[in-house]
Amino acid sequence: MHKLKLLLRKYENNFLLLDDIINNQKIEYLNFNKIITVTDTNLSKIPSVKKVINYLQNNYNTKIIELSSGEPNYEMIESTSKEIFKEKYDLVIALGGGSILDIVKSASMYENSVENVDHFSGSRKQYKERLVKTLAIPTTAGTGSEYTHTTVYKTRLNIKNWIWDELTYYDYVIYFPFLTADLPKDVTVASGVDAFDHLIESLMSLKFDSQNINLCNKGMETIWYSLPNLLENKNNLKERTNMLLGSGMAGKAIHFTGCGICHCIAHTLGSLTKVPHGIAVAYGLFYTIEPVLKNNHDLLQRFHGPFKNLSAVSLAKNIQEWLSNMKINYDLIEKKINFEEFIKIYYLDDNKSMRDNTYYQPSKSDLKILLDGLWN
Ligand SMILES: [Fe+2]
Repeated sequence: MHKLKLLLRKYENNFLLLDDIINNQKIEYLNFNKIITVTDTNLSKIPSVKKVINYLQNNYNTKIIELSSGEPNYEMIESTSKEIFKEKYDLVIALGGGSILDIVKSASMYENSVENVDHFSGSRKQYKERLVKTLAIPTTAGTGSEYTHTTVYKTRLNIKNWIWDELTYYDYVIYFPFLTADLPKDVTVASGVDAFDHLIESLMSLKFDSQNINLCNKGMETIWYSLPNLLENKNNLKERTNMLLGSGMAGKAIHFTGCGICHCIAHTLGSLTKVPHGIAVAYGLFYTIEPVLKNNHDLLQRFHGPFKNLSAVSLAKNIQEWLSNMKINYDLIEKKINFEEFIKIYYLDDNKSMRDNTYYQPSKSDLKILLDGLWN
């Protein structure tokens, strides 16, 4: 069996890794009477996604709803939740990237069909019970949202916030590597870097537990080699498989520890602009990795494989070079951000759990210098 698959199975045994979807194949995870599938309008036009939708429609009692593409907001969660609970569905399928997975994760909570979803953000209020089963079919390899309890979305105040609840999770996951082969290059890069960052932030987190050292290092090593290989050949299904399993591991890693400073920066940038999450995370990682490592040299002992036995400066330099080779376009944020507005959101109470989860705690003036390229 695939080594990564085996490693992920140690943590989660609720996933299938399938090469293809064929019409006469019945999938055990789909044994439900009434299914609703949530996807997005752009995705449903992609041939490989269309193939999955057709399979579901031809073989199961499935309603399909298509949301407009874009980062999740309160309205998308509430309206999707109303759709889910209008009829008696017994399975909700999320077919899409991190945004769709995040939306469906929360929309599957009955309360969100009748109540303001913002009441539940920042864990202010808890959900009472799960009334429907959920299945994630990720079409990107990145967020690992299928293995976290978190939804990131924009509130009524247009601030990026999170919902975390014991009850918001996926019962089942199906990985189809062929689904991710149609992704545009920039989405492959942004989501892959996000997954890498989840693993490294988890490894360097204050909440890190050494029993997950292999999970983080193996996941990082996988993405470290597989993502550049995919940029050479986007159709390499072996690497697509590695990326999906690596991002599932990344989701599991942040489920244990939460994220850190890069995500605090990324959520702040996501509140102020329409920058894709993975691009904002890449920016945060590029500029914080050196001070984070220099600030606590003990962290270096947590790194294995290609990251082992390096000084803080060398390790940071390697990571920065790896990121530079991705040729990420930062036009949406560079020289576009008002420093005072950034600080206001960065220091919001709801960002505290990320802000405090890294050993390095920059002051306002440190941030001004560190992220100098952002300010307008
Ligand atoms: Fe992320």
